[in-house]
Amino acid sequence: MKIPYLEYFGLVERPFGLTPDPHFYFETETHREAIAHLRFLLGQKEGFALIHGDVGLGKTTLSRIFLSSLDKDTYNTALILNPIMDEREFLMSILKELGLEARGVTRKELFDELQQFLLEEYRQGRETVLAIDEAQLLSNELFELIRILSNIETEKEKILRIILLGQPELVQKLKDPQVRYLAQRITVTYKLRPFSEREVGLYINYRLVKAGSKGLPTFKKNAVRRIFRASRGCPRLVNILSDRCVLALYGRSKESVDKQIVADVLEEEDIPFTSVDRGPFLTPTHRVVVLSLIGLVLILFAAFFANLIGYW
Ligand SMILES: Nc1ncnc2c1ncn2[C@@H]1O[C@H](COP(=O)(O)OP(=O)(O)OP(=O)(O)O)[C@@H](O)[C@H]1O
Ligand SMILES: [Mg+2]
Repeated sequence: MKIPYLEYFGLVERPFGLTPDPHFYFETETHREAIAHLRFLLGQKEGFALIHGDVGLGKTTLSRIFLSSLDKDTYNTALILNPIMDEREFLMSILKELGLEARGVTRKELFDELQQFLLEEYRQGRETVLAIDEAQLLSNELFELIRILSNIETEKEKILRIILLGQPELVQKLKDPQVRYLAQRITVTYKLRPFSEREVGLYINYRLVKAGSKGLPTFKKNAVRRIFRASRGCPRLVNILSDRCVLALYGRSKESVDKQIVADVLEEEDIPFTSVDRGPFLTPTHRVVVLSLIGLVLILFAAFFANLIGYW
């Protein structure tokens, strides 16, 4: 598909695509913390990691970045992106991700194949990390299979590190008595946060530079603020909105996105932002200042009236 504005702004590729492309990875505080938690898991002898967060906050991006950051000589990695499958398909997918051709047919044969591989690799000094994205979609049978997989061990330690990534329903699901046995083994948990306003500004610029920008288009500070409020710091929504803004900018033959352009784009009916906050907006710091001022005024009033009626 030809993107109309690329040439106009001197861009090499689309800056605000929707695929979780590691090339565009921008490390914010929350992603840095999540990676630190995952690294901590690798240092442990057993256990699972759970990374959860709202839709579009960057879980899939994070899983790819983390796995690709691991030293290939020390770690084998497998990433299951969509776990809607039965147990056989699940085992076959893991084997395939590990670069093996499944020879077995039955569940037991596939399991044994995987177990043998893990033990052999362990003997050679390599560990294996399995990340399961969209884990809120796992069936109870697969949760049970994962538990059994996590039990594969040598006399010293468990040899498969497992990371579950999913939307908030996953946390609920893990409270289900049927899968609680697995929840009890989770030793590392991290909840991804949305980006701050400052991070949204840096993120937009970073993606533009990665897409080949030599300075155009630009996003004014007030435009970033509006994008931050409308997206509530969710990178997927930032991408959707920024992409539309750049397109609108191109349509108007301008070079800088301002708050009016963002407002116009938000007015368009098909933008999936429902409760866009367009009214006065208070950050937590603003709120504290305003409440303190109100408190001060009330105290002054009370003092004034007390004085008036001769109370003091
Ligand atoms: N740290 C980041 N750096 C660069 N892009 C990011 C980052 N985090 C998220 N994105 C972008 O935001 C969009 C959503 O990211 P991603 O698909 O990873 O989110 P998700 O949490 O897996 O979403 P879902 O809950 O729908 O599975 C993608 O376009 C991705 O490129
Ligand atoms: Mg995802």
